[in-house]
Amino acid sequence: MKRRNLYIKTFGCQMNERDSEIIAQLLHGSGFIPVHDMEAADLIVLNTCSIRAKAEQKVYSLLGQLRQYKLRNPGLLISVAGCVAQQEGEQIQRKMPHVDLVVGTQQLYRLPEMIRRLDNGAHHLKPAVDISATFAIPSMRELTGPDPEAGLPSPADGGVRKFITIMQGCNNYCSYCVVPYTRGREISRPVADILDEVGMHATRGVREITLLGQNVNSYGQTDPVADRPVDFPALLHMVARTEGLRRLRFTTSNPKDLSDRLMRCFAEIDILCPNFHLPVQSGSDRILRRMNRKYTVADYLDKVRNLRRYCPDITLSTDIIVGFPGETDEDFEQTMQLLETVRFHSSFSFKYSDRPGTRSAAFGDKVAEQVKADRLSRFQTRQDRISLERNREYVGRIVEVMVEGAGKNNHLQGRTAGNHIVHFPGPPGSAFRPGDMVMVRINRAGQHSLAGTMLMEDSDA
Ligand code: SAH
Ligand code: SF4
Ligand code: F3S
Repeated sequence: MKRRNLYIKTFGCQMNERDSEIIAQLLHGSGFIPVHDMEAADLIVLNTCSIRAKAEQKVYSLLGQLRQYKLRNPGLLISVAGCVAQQEGEQIQRKMPHVDLVVGTQQLYRLPEMIRRLDNGAHHLKPAVDISATFAIPSMRELTGPDPEAGLPSPADGGVRKFITIMQGCNNYCSYCVVPYTRGREISRPVADILDEVGMHATRGVREITLLGQNVNSYGQTDPVADRPVDFPALLHMVARTEGLRRLRFTTSNPKDLSDRLMRCFAEIDILCPNFHLPVQSGSDRILRRMNRKYTVADYLDKVRNLRRYCPDITLSTDIIVGFPGETDEDFEQTMQLLETVRFHSSFSFKYSDRPGTRSAAFGDKVAEQVKADRLSRFQTRQDRISLERNREYVGRIVEVMVEGAGKNNHLQGRTAGNHIVHFPGPPGSAFRPGDMVMVRINRAGQHSLAGTMLMEDSDA
């Protein structure tokens, strides 16, 4: 088989990161080897995100630049995958005729076959576009044959942390959000496939798994096709029994579905990391209602209290949208107030952006761009300060760190269970490998990371 170079550029969320890994695995079977240099590629895949207008603009701007590449190398194949592909379909090739393939979020498994058809001279069949829906997610074993590991980087090179998608799509229709349109209906993967994949990674040396879904708390509950008795807390217990696994995480969870059973998992499962990303979006009940989030600020605070009761050390992060249509100064002050009440360890905050097909795109009372920018800046300045104060609470403490690799200035870099990045000097002559667990005494804290010194065995630990 002819060896060809593959360059994948990933935009957007962790689910897209995982999909890019799957694309690389699938294309490995067709002779494609990943390269880091886009200029050297025979196939460029843009795995795209459409969550805000800016994300979509980035894709079109890169596609514009790729026109030159194609002129220099007419044999180059350009493929668009992911959420913009799903949303735009054939329009992408109409706007950018040098694009060869458009593959939607539920059909990325078809990419090898679509490329084979182009290889066999089916160029006249352009547009090669598949954005159709699916009702079942094939297992990696079905897709890659008996050796699903072929094409995967070794844990030492490719990291000891892996993401595993446990469900696709979203049924929630928050009024601002494009995901239900770009990822389709919610479908859960079979438990056996998930356990198989986790087991395979753990056997190869992966030590940390993050289970992915837009709303993992409804895992197994909303399938159109299956009657699956396993819900998300049960799945967590099952995955946690995987031999060799040291850390387990998951993301994301809509607060409306956060059950007491799931919160209790933080007390019951020792490898479940005390770290929770719980997007709140706004501190105003009026705005939450217009967002169709189906919880109130009081509900949210109640869940935060319970989480902290089950797991006092838990670190919390969130997502915030500022400048949702109709958001008044008073609504925004309530978001600032929520920030003071919860004191999140970190947060991701965004200016509201109109997305095609969403309900809020049609709302009339849009907030001015400058007002959004001012609110975002005020929110982020305050959050940065709180993150720093939160991180300073760790100075003097001894924490367990999983080594991830070399950091700056001959330091090692790792991560705590609470998801803090930690930098520390490796002891002279030591050979720590990714995945090793070490104890570190924290002596400095920044906004985004901690620093400290490693405790040697038999020392003052
Ligand atoms: N499923 C996740 C969110 C996925 S999208 C959840 O419900 O929590 C990630 C984040 O992008 C969202 O939490 C939201 O804060 C932000 N976002 C989504 N649509 C947006 C829009 N139209 N404008 C600005 N931010 C948006
Ligand atoms: Fe979007 Fe809401 Fe679904 Fe999250 S839960 S992906 S914000 S529709
Ligand atoms: Fe973006 Fe699609 Fe993820 S819109 S955030 S890549 S689900």
